[in-house]
Parts: sequence; C-alpha cells; structure tokens
Amino acid sequence: MPKNEVVETSEAQIAVHWQEEKYYYPSSKFIAQANLTNEDVYKRFSLDNFPECFKEYADLIDWYEYWHTTLDTSDAPCWKWFVGGKINASYNCIDRHLKNNKNKTAIHFVPELENEKIEHITYQELYVKVNEFAALLQSFAGLKTGDRVTIHMPMVPELPIAMLACARLGLIHSVVFGGFSGKACADRIVDSGSKVLITMDAYYRNGVLLDHKEKANIAVDQVEKEGQGIDKVLIWQRYPDKYSSRTSIIEGRDFIVNNILKDYRGKKIDPVKISAEAPLFLMYTSGTTGKPKGCQHSTGGYLAYVAGTSKYIQDIHPEDVYWCMADIGWITGHSYIVYGPLSLCASIVLYEGIPTYPDAGRPWRIAEELDVNIFHTAPTAIRGLRKIGPEEPLKYNYHFKHMTTVGEPIEPEVWKWYYEVVGKSEAVIADTWWQTETGGFLCATVPALNPMKPGSTGPGVPGIHPIIYDDHGKEIVAGEGRAGNICIKNPWPGSFQTIWGDRDRYVGTYYARYCKNQNSKDWRDWPYLTGDAAMEAEDGYFRILGRIDDVINVSGHRLGTKEIESAALIVPEVAEAAVVPVADDLKGTVPDLYIALKPGNPPSEEISSRISEAITESIGKIAKPRKVWIVSDMPKTRSGKIMRRVLAALSNKKEVGDTTTLANPDVVDEIQKMTSI
Ligand code: WT7
Repeated sequence: MPKNEVVETSEAQIAVHWQEEKYYYPSSKFIAQANLTNEDVYKRFSLDNFPECFKEYADLIDWYEYWHTTLDTSDAPCWKWFVGGKINASYNCIDRHLKNNKNKTAIHFVPELENEKIEHITYQELYVKVNEFAALLQSFAGLKTGDRVTIHMPMVPELPIAMLACARLGLIHSVVFGGFSGKACADRIVDSGSKVLITMDAYYRNGVLLDHKEKANIAVDQVEKEGQGIDKVLIWQRYPDKYSSRTSIIEGRDFIVNNILKDYRGKKIDPVKISAEAPLFLMYTSGTTGKPKGCQHSTGGYLAYVAGTSKYIQDIHPEDVYWCMADIGWITGHSYIVYGPLSLCASIVLYEGIPTYPDAGRPWRIAEELDVNIFHTAPTAIRGLRKIGPEEPLKYNYHFKHMTTVGEPIEPEVWKWYYEVVGKSEAVIADTWWQTETGGFLCATVPALNPMKPGSTGPGVPGIHPIIYDDHGKEIVAGEGRAGNICIKNPWPGSFQTIWGDRDRYVGTYYARYCKNQNSKDWRDWPYLTGDAAMEAEDGYFRILGRIDDVINVSGHRLGTKEIESAALIVPEVAEAAVVPVADDLKGTVPDLYIALKPGNPPSEEISSRISEAITESIGKIAKPRKVWIVSDMPKTRSGKIMRRVLAALSNKKEVGDTTTLANPDVVDEIQKMTSI
C-alpha cells in the first residue's frame, strides 16, 4: 500500500477522541472465583518463553497424539503450531465431556417467538445429533476429509451441529452469515470450491418468519453461471416435518435433512484423527479489494487458543451459563460461542432473534430465566438497548459476573451504562480487540488482574505482544500520545494460516509492510499488520482508533468499500461510485455512497433506490448505504484519484481541509450544499 494512502485514510477514519478515563476495579467476589489471578501469567507468556508458553493452552485440550514441535517457522510467515499432533475438534467439544457431564445442558436454544419453548440440549443429545448428521454428510453427501462445505444458516442449534459434524469428519466448514444475500453466499461457495450447501428453510427475525431457502436458489444459480456445480443442497426445517419456505424443492439437488436423517438414527461416526495444522474452517472477511478473503484457520492451534482465552479472559468455568449474542456466522460466534465455550464444557445460550424483539427487556428476561452469568455482545447492541430501554435491566433479577464487548470501540458513556445498569456494578467488563484473521483475542484486560478503563481495550492478552509503528517503521512508544499502525510482534496459535488459495495476498496484506527480511525464517522479522490505527497509553493499555485501510466497520462487522462500490456499479447508469464511513449513534459507522452517473442520465429517486437494492442483493442489508448522493462529479486529484477523504469529511459534516490540490474544487461546494441540508 503506498504510504500516502495510509495517512490519508487513517485521518479520515480516526473518529475516537474521548478523554482518558479512570480505572474501575473488579470486585473481590469476582477475583475469588476467577480462573486467572496470578500476575505470573505475564512472565510465563513473555517473549523469553515464546513459543513454549502456549503449551499451557494446548494442554487444555485432548490430543490423540501429542505434538513434538510447538512452532514450525520453516514456511514463514505461514506458521505451523503443535506440529506432529493429532486431534479432533468435535471430540474436544463433545465426546470428552460425556464421561462426567453427559446430562448437562450444552445448548439452551431460545426461539425468537416468546411463546415457543426454550430447548435444552444436553451434551449427550448433542453427541447423538452431531453423529447422525456426520453420518449423513459422509454417506448421503459423500463428503470426505479436506472437502469444503458451505453453511448458510440462521442462529439455531442445527448450525453448531452442522459445524461440529463437519469437524468430526475433518471437513472444512465455511459458514456464511445468514443475513448475507444469496449472491454473497455464491461468491464464498465458488471461492472455497464447496460442492455442498447446508441451509435452512426459514427462521424468525423481528417477528417475521423469513424465507431463507430462496437465498439458496439464488446462490446455486449464480454458482452455476460461474461454471461451478453444487452437488447437493441440504435443507434443515426450522419446524421439523413442515416445510416453511415458499420456494420449491428442486428434485435431485435439494434434500430435506430432517427426512433423510431418519435413515441415520443412532449412527456413530468415529472422530477423524487429523493433524493439528489441518484447516478446521474458512471464514470470509472484507479487505481493500472487492473479493472477500477466506481466512483459513487451523484445528490444533485455533482450538488451543480459543480454549485458553475462553478460560482466562472470558473466565468460563464448566458451571457457567454463557451467552454471547453475536451471530455464529461471524468469527466471534465461531470462537466464543461454539469452539471455546463448548471445549470447556460450558452451557451456552443460542438466541434466534434480535435483542429488541418484542421489546428491549428481552435479553434481560432471557438472562433471568436461564441464569446467565457471562454475557458477551457488541457496542451496537448495547447502544440500541440503552436507547430504547435504559431502565429495562433493573426490572429483572439476573446477575452477571462478567461481560464482554467486541467489534468496535465503545464510547465511555455507553461503557458506563453497560457497567452500571446492565452489569449492576457487579460484573467485570472485558473490552476485547481482535479480528477474523486472529482467531481469538489480541488485547483485553485479564479480568481479575487488570483494572478496566472505559474506551480502552487493555494490554495485549498473555502471549500477545503488540507494537505500534509509524509510517516509517519507527516504533511509537507507550505514552507518546501519537497514533500509529498497531502490529503484533509474534505469531500465536489462533492466527489464521493463510488466505484460502491466495498465499501472496496473505503475505502482501498482513506481513509485507514491516517485514525486515522477506527470506527470513525467523518470526522476529515478520510483525503482523492488523490494519488498525491505535494509541498506547502510559499504562500499556491500547486505544483502537479505527481501520487504516478501505474498510468500514458497521455494527462491529467489516465491509470493504470496494465490495459496496462494485455492487453499485452493477446498475448500468452508474459511472463512478465511492463509499465513505459516516459516524452513526447506534451502529458506530454506516456507509454513505456517492455516485456519478453516465452522461445523459438525470438523477432520480428511482435510480437511487435501484442502487441501494443492488447493494442489498449483492451483499446483504448490512451494507445498505445510509444515503445515496448523486453528484455531478467526484472530487478528484489531478491524477484522477477520487478523494474519499473529502467525501468522508462532507458526510460527517467536518472541515474539508485543503482542497487546492483537487482538479475540480468547485464540486466540493456543490456537494457541501447537498449534504448540509
Ligand atoms: C476489526 C475486526 C473481533 C471480532 C468481531 C469483528 C475492529 C474489533 C474492537 C474493539 C475497537 C475493534 C477493529 C478490527 N474491532 N474489536 N474491542 N475495539 N475496535 O471482527 O469483522 O474481523 O473486524 O474490528 O477495527 O480490525 P472483524
């Protein structure tokens, strides 16, 4: 990435300027029961003990064959962890708990409709369901170890069941967020080369039974247009023995899982003993170009890392009831709903719907009913609940010991409401900063060891050693008061292994920028570039300021500006499109879209709505622009580059700054008039 581009976008995106806040301390009650209370942990996980320190995490899981090499750097920067080890993730999340805990609830499933019964699925029941579905995948779908499978499902127990069945067979699952469109699903099917799509007929969201199967039809049509085939579409029924979609079943291609499962009743599948470095899953995320990146995560390193951080940072004990409101279709759900908590034998809550249905008291009723004591969500949800029902939590008798926030910076005011009202001033908060690529937490406070500071994430978690570089590769030290590009000095077991099918993009995007020697096999030469701007306070706490690349964070989820722009360009009248992030009270940021039309096309409401529509269809509702501004021309540099910085300033009603270098400064006034109303 050229240097000037980094500076330009980071200025536009740094939207966090709150003051340093005072510390809040964990209660003695929390400390008395915490998993990690010994300061020594930072010594144990210091760089002097790297990489052997991570044995502590690997020992939290069961190995068929123990590993011989902790970290193999011979293919730097594609790191291999726990080499020689043989393992199975499904075994670790289920089978090994049966001896002592088979009748314990693994999953509390809460349907969105409040009059529907909560389902309590024990570990034994989970074992049976996962085995039966694995048998179906093996015999009926003909899948074998190493095959990719795309799963496009809502928040229902059948989703983790499908994931764990894949893991049992060594299939690589690629879960696509249920809210994504059929087209977005198709892109991920094509890139991963999946031959099987697992989906569901319908699900409830905001009180409406949405037809989900129709997205599968769009996805498969698109996949076929691109010259790739899908062998089978496996459809779970939201309500067994009833098909809840209007879309017809295509003979020979579409199969109702609930019917076929009857042939596999009671079938057992031995977990496949796969190598630690075998991929467990792909998770697609947005980057600077239009094409989403398939982050490839390992089995052994990943599982060890999410088990370790779930235990130490989430403070999960086997007797806890843990509720993470994220969607399993994002990395948070993979690591901290499914693999981390289940590997530790916790009881997890899975909620189908939106937090404010039918009202803003819903999460707190669920917490009260199920005795949830660990709660995990994103600032967007917290802002929404605070806005609609600021007093609601007080009406319910639940008690959290621990709460997590993730995905975007949280404003101190919102943090305080979360702490005082939701947490009733009893619960600790961990502000966890990390990414799809990193598999698990990078920075957070260890809840019984470090005080909390609203608006700051915390220091690197044990074993993670962050460093901030300026654009010239010089280190910015703690307390210097300057922001820079936050990197991680060392590899860690949860990190992704590569971008599926694109090693060059992996190296180029994450390791090229501050690499000291491209031929080096020494991890010290390969700092990992996170793509975030950050500042380190004197106490070693980091404050994350936002992305330095062309990525927008909407409700804690990454959307590439290029992805949205290319969707807009599908509309034939559109000549140019530019997306910029706008600050939003609830969602953190939302995309604003600027459009220049081809000559001869007058602007109209109709074109604007067609553009919005095209984006929803290509990506999903989450990417829908706040506003579509049709302008006569884009502000451009003399070399013809669109000045997104200027557009971002206009959308955010900020000072535009110097425009003298523009080829067409007049257009700025014109756009300013338009956006200031
Ligand atoms: C980007 C990663 C991590 C799982 C959910 C999002 C931003 C994430 C925080 C936080 C400030 C945060 C960063 C990061 N981010 N957590 N606690 N404070 N910013 O995963 O979609 O891969 O997005 O989200 O900008 O790079 P993702």
